[in-house]
Amino acid sequence: MIKEIKYLLKKHNITLAAHYYEKDEIFDIADLTGDSLELAKKTAKLKKPLIFCGVSFMGESAKILNPSIPVFMPRLADCSMARMAEIEKVKKDIELLKKENINFIPVCYVNSSAKIKAIVGELGGSICTSSSAEKIVQWAIKQNKKIYFLPDKNLGKNTAKKLGVKAKVIREKNWQEADIICFDGHCSVHQLFMPEQIEFYKEKFPDIKIVVHPECSPEVCKMADFVGSTSQILNYVKNHPKETMAIGTEFNFVNRLKRDINPNIYVLSSTKPECPSMNETTMQNLYDLLKAIDEEQPYNEIKVDENIAKNALKALNTMMEITK
Ligand code: 13P
Ligand code: SF4
Repeated sequence: MIKEIKYLLKKHNITLAAHYYEKDEIFDIADLTGDSLELAKKTAKLKKPLIFCGVSFMGESAKILNPSIPVFMPRLADCSMARMAEIEKVKKDIELLKKENINFIPVCYVNSSAKIKAIVGELGGSICTSSSAEKIVQWAIKQNKKIYFLPDKNLGKNTAKKLGVKAKVIREKNWQEADIICFDGHCSVHQLFMPEQIEFYKEKFPDIKIVVHPECSPEVCKMADFVGSTSQILNYVKNHPKETMAIGTEFNFVNRLKRDINPNIYVLSSTKPECPSMNETTMQNLYDLLKAIDEEQPYNEIKVDENIAKNALKALNTMMEITK
């Protein structure tokens, strides 16, 4: 099947992009890989059709940033955190912020739907990713406004801690006093990492390095030696190829780091923390899509409503500009 997939990709001049959390067999044949920000930047430059193996918001962002190319996804798999930020809930938060006379600017994690990004664009806000959250929040702070950070409360709180400002989840006691007011969302995979697991590994290997993604809870991030996006974690591992480490992020990625770079890596969990959405995409799905394209019966082509795309692009472009 791999041979046929490679043949069809070449025949139709299609670029294959994959996020680090995808299954190994897909990740290993991808032309473009990276964290969310890198993938957005790389795919924005393409001039030929794209197949994106990842979650829906990634394919949507690629289409919004590069509307002239066809973007396909073998599976339209939704990130559970993006799903949490339902339009009605976000609108309710915004109403409450207005009712309390809070002068705010929204900063929205890229793990969100195009509709939510469009609301953020209309309000003059910016998108951020895990690797750019600090820079974007700094940009927002400079405008002397409070920040409405959505949907990941953990990324919001962890970024606030790094920048020495105060964050609270909206409707939490005295939330109005915070500099960063967070939507009450989280990642179902990264919430699985617990301080107890860090204690367990530290007891077993006193010199162990603890490495985690900023979607983990503030309690977990506080105990870590390094907190970063997937690409930042990859670079950290490359720079520490022999040290014993326990890594708190998605299983496929951690296992690949162990396979390819450092055999002394442990998953910071007693379970297998796979992202169900990222894991939906299989080689068979990729093959079936390519066959359909070959037979001129393509499906799962990403389309975004023109008005939504226009406003979502404003918010995405603000991030692109700040992280240039
Ligand atoms: P990165 O931008 O760090 O790759 O994160 C994407 C993601 O969904 C993490 O759960
Ligand atoms: Fe979404 Fe979490 Fe999966 Fe990342 S790991 S895509 S935030 S559900």
